[in-house]
Amino acid sequence: MLSKVTKLTLIAVVALSFAAFVKPASVPADSPGPEYTSDGQLKLPENYRQWVYLTTGFDMSYSANPMAMDHHMFDNVFVNPESYKAFTETGTWPDKTMLVLEVRKAEGKGSINQAGNFQGSEVMGLEVHVKDEAKFAGKWAFFGFDGTKTAKMTPTGASCYTCHQEHGAVDTTFVQFYPTLLSIAKSKGTLASGYEKENASSSQKPVER
Ligand code: HEC
Repeated sequence: MLSKVTKLTLIAVVALSFAAFVKPASVPADSPGPEYTSDGQLKLPENYRQWVYLTTGFDMSYSANPMAMDHHMFDNVFVNPESYKAFTETGTWPDKTMLVLEVRKAEGKGSINQAGNFQGSEVMGLEVHVKDEAKFAGKWAFFGFDGTKTAKMTPTGASCYTCHQEHGAVDTTFVQFYPTLLSIAKSKGTLASGYEKENASSSQKPVER
């Protein structure tokens, strides 16, 4: 006679070996990598909402005296799953990474909500940061979608490039604000030297727009 514990152990072993052969029912949404039109515009990665979620910023402002706004804003950041996985292994982004910043208006009162804020259904802004080493001289480029399905590249003289280059914690991206990634970058030693200096000299001084 097998003891109760042995029986349970056997059941667990059988269950685990079975589980190892069964594929997860839903595989993460794959992305084909950045796709462009014949005139070099980026096609909107339409399934970005099925990608990996990195963060939500609330009313983030990069100047000490932000412009007065009549409403609050959320921004959500997503990355394609393949690149997220690579980041967890290496602490940096592989070629063909796409990060999406989606801006939504903060709503106050609505349905049963009496205090605090929730995100409105309308997308107020959508920007994509793409790493395509063969295509862009600086390896990365920005694209701003204005309710459209394709977008022209933001010219390299724009402030987007300087701020991301100077202040982004990893490879021109703002990993210091992506809570699941910062500790990985620290442990892999991939933090940008500019970011490390900034943090050594001052603790979180606001940066100029
Ligand atoms: C003064 C600094 C600054 C400037 C200028 C700036 N950004 Fe950013 N950007 C940030 C910060 C900070 C975040 C992190 C947002 C968060 O944590 O929610 C960010 C995040 C992003 C992301 C998410 C992926 C990433 O790279 O981390 C995109 C896409 C993006 N910005 C696009 C743009 C575009 C396009 C412009 C120019 C039109 C721009 N940014 C200008 C500071 C800046």
